[in-house]
Amino acid sequence: MIKVSNLQAGYGAVRAVRGVSLTLGKGELVTVLGANGAGKSSLMLTIAGALKPTGGQVFFDGKDVTGATPERMVRLGLAMVPETRDVFPDLTVAENLRLGAYIRRKQVDAVQADLEKMYEIFPRLKEREHQAGGTLSGGEQQMLVIARAMMSDPKVLLLDEPSLGLAPNLVDQIFEMILELKATGLSILLVEQNASKALQIADRAYVLRLGEIAAEGTAAEISEASDLHAMYLGG
Ligand SMILES: Nc1ncnc2c1ncn2[C@@H]1O[C@H](COP(=O)(O)OP(=O)(O)OP(=O)(O)O)[C@@H](O)[C@H]1O
Ligand SMILES: [Mg+2]
Repeated sequence: MIKVSNLQAGYGAVRAVRGVSLTLGKGELVTVLGANGAGKSSLMLTIAGALKPTGGQVFFDGKDVTGATPERMVRLGLAMVPETRDVFPDLTVAENLRLGAYIRRKQVDAVQADLEKMYEIFPRLKEREHQAGGTLSGGEQQMLVIARAMMSDPKVLLLDEPSLGLAPNLVDQIFEMILELKATGLSILLVEQNASKALQIADRAYVLRLGEIAAEGTAAEISEASDLHAMYLGG
């Protein structure tokens, strides 16, 4: 679904992504691990079109989409949940979710069906359907932004550190929900600092260090490489 080839991007003189190549197959769950500042978010933003690449290529479903706008990427079937977890605080949960379907305004029935599907996967959102987004707990807001991204009916979902700042039992719940989304055939690129948890649910993994891929392999291979944990993932 996604192929990234020698991708480079940054902020002025800061080279955050330095020649990254990776793939994400259909229905696959691939995790990108790495310490603070490794370039994980920058990589995601570049794939999603929010940060312009300075070199290399991005392919989506076989099409060269290098430099495409975020809007075009959404229309092609790519949804991203950024680290910032930005819900619309004054809108209700249901309104937040419906906004996620803004590119599908004419598909009234399909949007309604997807809304029901998201309430099944995230029952806590159903219970809080009429509550203002800003009054949800951190974990509920994370569920809301994931479900909202799903409302665009994507083929590929990019998740940037969904476990950040959540209590361990909530992290487990979020990861269960990610697996449920995967079971629908979705391809998922999951950025995480919580390496051990991410490796439990991922098929494959890449380890990013200073903007470059330092290691890659199956989740099992990366889990077993104990030196990797010490060097790049903080033990
Ligand atoms: N808007 C920005 N302007 C300038 N430099 C930036 C900007 N955003 C990120 N950087 C720099 O780019 C590098 C990669 O940052 P990035 O946010 O991609 O890392 P990360 O792996 O997502 O880190 P974290 O785990 O803390 O989220 C860092 O050196 C960071 O300081
Ligand atoms: Mg980040």
